This record gives sequence, C-alpha cells and structure tokens, in this order.
Amino acid sequence: MPVQVADKVYWVGAIDWNVRNFHGYTYTTPRGTTYNAYLVLGEEPALVDTVARGFEEEMMARIREVIDPARIRHLIANHGEPDHSAAIPYVLAHAPQASLYCTSKGTESLGAYYPELQGFRVVKTGDTLPLGGKTLQFIEAPMLHWPDSMFTYVQEDRLLLPNDAFGQHLATSQRFDDQVEAGQLWEEAARYYANILTPYSRMVLRKLDEVGKLGLAIDTIAPSHGIIWRRNPGSILGAYRRWASGEAKERVVIAYETMWGSTEKMARALAEGVADEGVEALLRGLPMADRTDVIKELLEAKGLLVGSSTHNQHMLLNIAAFVEDLKGLRFTHKIGAAFGSYGWAGTAVGHLEESLREAGFDVMVSDLAFRWAPSAADLERAREFGRRFAREVRQAVAQSLGAHHGPEG
Ligand code: FEO
Repeated sequence: MPVQVADKVYWVGAIDWNVRNFHGYTYTTPRGTTYNAYLVLGEEPALVDTVARGFEEEMMARIREVIDPARIRHLIANHGEPDHSAAIPYVLAHAPQASLYCTSKGTESLGAYYPELQGFRVVKTGDTLPLGGKTLQFIEAPMLHWPDSMFTYVQEDRLLLPNDAFGQHLATSQRFDDQVEAGQLWEEAARYYANILTPYSRMVLRKLDEVGKLGLAIDTIAPSHGIIWRRNPGSILGAYRRWASGEAKERVVIAYETMWGSTEKMARALAEGVADEGVEALLRGLPMADRTDVIKELLEAKGLLVGSSTHNQHMLLNIAAFVEDLKGLRFTHKIGAAFGSYGWAGTAVGHLEESLREAGFDVMVSDLAFRWAPSAADLERAREFGRRFAREVRQAVAQSLGAHHGPEG
C-alpha cells in the first residue's frame, strides 16, 4: 500500500526486511532497511528517488495504486548511490515522458552507473520546479553524504526530502516516528549518523545553518531510509547538531581484542578504574561486539580505550579493522589511549596509539604494554590509569559543556 505523507504526497518505496549489511560489509543492518521513494502529485506528477535493485516491482505496484506510472513527468534523483538510483532506468521505461533531475555531480555518478541515461536536467540550490499545485525546491547538500547529494523541498507541504540525511536503517511496516518504539528509532538514527555521517560533521553544521538561513519552514522530514519524522522534526535536526558538534557524555568505550585473555584482564581493570570515578564504562570485546554498534556507542562517548594483544608485532585483525574505520570516520573532540599485552617481541600498543592520532583523537600515553600475563601489580596500574583517564574525560566534558553554553551558560 502507498502511504500518504502530506496532501497528495505518497510514500511509494520498498521495505528490505532481510538486508544485514550495507556499503559492502562495513555497516551491519540488524533491523533491515527501507528505500523510500515519494510521489508528489502536482498536475505534472513527480517521483523523488527510487529503490534498490530487486525492489522495482514493489515500488511500481505502490505507484500504480495512486496513478498510472506513465503519467510521471519528473524524476528527481537526490543522490546517485544505487540503493536509491537502481530503479531509475526501470521507472523511465515505464514513464517515457519523464525528465531526470540531479545535481551537476549527480550526472557523474548516475552517468557512470547507468550509461544508457541521457538528457540530465541539472539543478542547483535555489532552483524550483513548479508541478502545478506543487512546487519543488532544490538544495544541494554535497558530502551529506556524497558530493552529488541534494535535498528536495515541497514548498506547499513544508516537507523536506533529504535523501540519506536524517535516515535510519530500520525495516518496519510503520512509516512515521509516532508509530514506532522511540528507543529503537533513536538507536538506529544514531547508528546511522555515527557510521555514515561522522566524517562530514562540519558540512552537517554548515548545512543546518544554511537551511536555517533559507528560512524553510519544516513540518515533516522524510528521508530515504527508515522512518519519517512528523511528530517533532526539530528533534532530529537538534540531534544532528549535537552529534556534528561532537557533544559527548562522561562515557568511555573500551574496545579490545585478546589472544589468551591477558589484554581482556587489562580491559576489565581499566573498566573498574573508570567506574571507580563514576564515569560510565562500556567494555566491548571484538569480534563478539558488532563494530557498527561500537562506533555508535562511541558517538556520544568522550573517551576511547583501545587494546590488543600483539601478533606478528602488530595488532589483531578485528581491532585493526576497528581503528582503520576510525581513521575514516574522523571523530572530533575525543580522548583516546591504548593498551595491550605482548610475548616475545614488539608491541601493538605503539601502533594503536599512532592509529588513534591519525584518527584525530587526543592521545594520553598509557605505558600499559604488559608482557605475557599481567601481574596483580600490573592490573592495579591499569586500574589507576582507568581512574586517571576517567578524570580527564570528566574534565573535558565539563569544558565542552562550558564552551557550548558560553560564559553565561
Ligand atoms: Fe548513500 Fe542510502 O545511499
């Protein structure tokens, strides 16, 4: 069934209940996802975005319940990634009169994915497309999250269609924020921001300011994944501002990988030390903990302790993938430290510290590289370091709160 989003605007997307990973295997999606496409019924109907490969007929069946697809005159491609664009050739085959709109960069991504496509209509910020009774306004949104990305705004309905921004990977038969369990929705929204948008936080802040300056009244935000924000769209805008600003809690994520349990003993001692100071400690052993989840938990944590046993003079592979991910994500305003155990030679701790620096963390040098099994005295040193790290975290959180609230805050 299509779902009405606003007056003469319908969700006609598809629900992918079974997908469990995204972007290759970099992002796990335990709750599936949706590919949201929106039909805007002006006198000349427009379709904003399409769906992933394999879901073309599901989308088309929903469109047919509203109009004959051949009536579609305008097809808006907010973004070229195939989860939203794969059905473009299929739609155009069913709507031969439709013109295809995208950003200048979109001609590059779409043109490469679908060489058969021609005659792109390039739009930029401020351009409008009158449909007769409805007006689409375009806002380029480069790096949210690709250079080709843009938002489409339906003026009459104060409806923002921002593609990937503000989305969540959440498959559900419900379409709106007031219909789903809030904890699940916010968990997926944070997971999505942390794993996809973190590298572009500066651009997120700029775009939020720009949308504010454009004076767009927004009643509804309908992204291209997951749930539509209609109860309080300001709540997700506010969350994006907080996340992009690097606001964080008195929380320390302790991510580690262990060969024979020594690094794990150190991780537990560190967690006890952090907790001694009243700071939250989240102990996450890889690969038992899901990397995508740990990244999400790190989004609102001020501190990261990362540990590994030494193997071939380097770190273990799951923690290596984790710190490589961190280098790409480039979190800001976070403190990090490394720890680990080793046997005959070399130590992974130096490599971990270097990786944390490359990932943009302020690194506290720990001197927590223990040979073989940590002694009781070693574990007490780890516990003491945990306390010291927690105090640093608390102080940094207090300072950033002061900075956000200003001198009178
Ligand atoms: Fe960037 Fe949902 O694709």
